[in-house]
Amino acid sequence: MKLFLDSANIEEIKRANEFGIICGVTTNPSIIAKEGKDFKEMIQQMTQIIDGPISGEVKPTTEEAKDMIREGRSIASLHPNMVVKLPTTPEGLKACHVLSKEGIKTNLTLVFSVPQALLAARAGATYVSPFIGRIDDISMDGLQLIKDIAQIFKIYNLSTQIICASIRNAYHIIGCAKTGADIATVPYSIIEQMVKHPLTDKGLEKFKNDYIAVFGE
Ligand code: E4P
Repeated sequence: MKLFLDSANIEEIKRANEFGIICGVTTNPSIIAKEGKDFKEMIQQMTQIIDGPISGEVKPTTEEAKDMIREGRSIASLHPNMVVKLPTTPEGLKACHVLSKEGIKTNLTLVFSVPQALLAARAGATYVSPFIGRIDDISMDGLQLIKDIAQIFKIYNLSTQIICASIRNAYHIIGCAKTGADIATVPYSIIEQMVKHPLTDKGLEKFKNDYIAVFGE
């Protein structure tokens, strides 16, 4: 399973990239608004750091397919690695169908059910983004959704890739990887959680003390 970074923070993107573990970036309107900077400028900076797919979402104020298509073309023109993120709505599906036929990569977001994922795949989506954490938030099983989508995409040999989104903890990562999902997009804080283990810290401390006791600093 590949890892993308779910962030528009340039410092976080640089730091995560230094670990050599991320091969793409996803953003959404909330993440972009959090940085409060010009969208195109931020995207351009990201493309200079990451050599992989970068999802840029159409504005949440864009409601009709024709406007999503226009905006999607403009996002795609920013860089060959750009992926146009569209809402999984009837208008989003229409836009996905047109943009996909033009060879523009798409990421259908805010997926909360198997039928939504299936429709997105049939409309030509390059990626679907099921939101695990937000499903867990309403006391349902986010990981089960990933399992179901992965199983169905496999049965029908659908090429649409699954990006597990709304990841809240390292346990989500294990669950997603077990389903065979293609990608998990993670906030920087989760990468920190993933690398951390108390026994690693304890072990390192012991190695250090044992070494110093005999050889000194
Ligand atoms: C995915 O592409 C989204 O940006 C993201 O994972 C949303 O996560 P959240 O539910 O933590 O906002």
